[in-house]
Amino acid sequence: MTESIVNSKISISDNIEELSEQFAQLLMNGLNEKNDYFHVALSGGSTPKAVYNYLAEIYRSRINWGKIKFFWGDERCVPPDHFESNFRMANEFLISKVEIPDENIFMIHGDKDPEEEAVNYSNILLANIPSHASLPEFDLVLLGLGEDGHTASIFPDYLDLFNVDSICAVTEHPITLQKRITLTGRVINNARHVVFLVTGKSKSNVVDIILNHKNGFNKLPASYVNPDNGELNWLLDKTASSLLK
Ligand code: 6PG
Repeated sequence: MTESIVNSKISISDNIEELSEQFAQLLMNGLNEKNDYFHVALSGGSTPKAVYNYLAEIYRSRINWGKIKFFWGDERCVPPDHFESNFRMANEFLISKVEIPDENIFMIHGDKDPEEEAVNYSNILLANIPSHASLPEFDLVLLGLGEDGHTASIFPDYLDLFNVDSICAVTEHPITLQKRITLTGRVINNARHVVFLVTGKSKSNVVDIILNHKNGFNKLPASYVNPDNGELNWLLDKTASSLLK
């Protein structure tokens, strides 16, 4: 079922396979729209694991992977082989399983000085992605959603990152104080396609608050994801969408 709420397209899937297929179709459609490289910012966390695995298993030979340049929407400031690394997760579930040229992988170096890497990665984005309105224009930004309404690594204390000119920023996880490097809000909203992947009952409340503009929604970073000229898709499973009317 797909419907639009607040300039968003919402698709509700019965299970992760159906949701993964939805995402695969969005990716394929996006690829078919472009003759040149397709620039994707991958999400971290655990939700995308099943989607990445589905792509690697089912779309291994159905997608021209060499046409895609892979970036990250955020990274934990840990080494790339650390169990919390978003690079490590994407590499384990997708990148190592399909034919992607090494030169198409642009990782955030979580093991480097965060402030220096944020500047370095910003320059890498500017050098490797076409710009629009003086900001890198991703073809697709994949996002997850935290129960506190964070997305990428823009936590509730960092709402100002939707109004800054910088391309990447350093943030700190509110509980673990782990340093993160993240795309800023204006870069996310500069993308041609933004896709939220949200599953699980634990996310149902925050999904309801954001999509139905309920009390407190304006304190949640994910509420500010609204592409200026692009398309916003929410891919939800039944449990994450269970409070939506
Ligand atoms: C990260 C992600 C973060 C994640 C949400 C949801 O680095 O963790 O960028 O925004 O998408 O926290 O995480 P789960 O998918 O694990 O629920």
